[in-house]
Amino acid sequence: MTPPPADPGSPARPPKLPPAYRLVALDSVTSTNDEARRLAGEGAEDGTLVWAREQTAGRGRLGRDWRSPPGNLYLSLVLRPERPVAEAAQLGFVAAVALCDALGSVAPPLIEVTLKWPNDVLVNDRKAAGILLETMLDTQGGLAALILGMGVNIAHYPEESAHPATSLKFEGARRDLEPAELLEAFARHFLAWVNRWLEDGFEPVRRGWLNRSKAPGSAVEVRLPDRTVQGTFEDLDAAGGLRLRLADGRVERITVGDVFRLE
Ligand code: BTN
Repeated sequence: MTPPPADPGSPARPPKLPPAYRLVALDSVTSTNDEARRLAGEGAEDGTLVWAREQTAGRGRLGRDWRSPPGNLYLSLVLRPERPVAEAAQLGFVAAVALCDALGSVAPPLIEVTLKWPNDVLVNDRKAAGILLETMLDTQGGLAALILGMGVNIAHYPEESAHPATSLKFEGARRDLEPAELLEAFARHFLAWVNRWLEDGFEPVRRGWLNRSKAPGSAVEVRLPDRTVQGTFEDLDAAGGLRLRLADGRVERITVGDVFRLE
């Protein structure tokens, strides 16, 4: 692997992160999730943050590719929360809320930033960021580490994707917005939200997520791996599952799928 340069995203100024993080800055990598996973296997601490200028084999949810040219933000965090595996998915929502706030702090006020289940961030209703959570289990089946990968389209976005995509710059963000600046903003907001989660549990995160999403109460179509269902987006449950109210009144709990608003 190429040795880490001083700073891949902003040669003029290295990013300043709170001391809770240990930054591993790379020029090019297959996937920051791969590298974070490798480091976690070697014992990397909670808060190790792998940041790359580009990825050659970035991946998204549901086995999709994540195109990763220079100019966007690609990062993966090694997290070791002392929590049961069942609560691990909550950190994807913590990260989504934190990223939404971070984008609000660097993007112009006219940009509308919202959340889409499970962990997508939309800008003006188009996908601008995604989160990929991967768990590493210990020999007893407990949570050894969680790899939280995040990609944000700052300068580029894919023309073809499951959900219409965009980039921050296409939507009017500053031309000189660099990945390093967004990395700093995300790192600050994520730390604040993780601490809140550790102290007060999932409830404030759940409320924060619902407040930043347009989906609650609206008609949605959910494309599951084996079928498609329609209903009303009712709630998020404690494990981050989507509670979908079906036309016959039953509630179906969704854990994997793509959500599309119908109205
Ligand atoms: C999604 O499908 O929405 C999730 C996309 C996650 C992409 C990020 S980019 C950094 C990290 N490394 C990867 O290979 N994937 C995640």
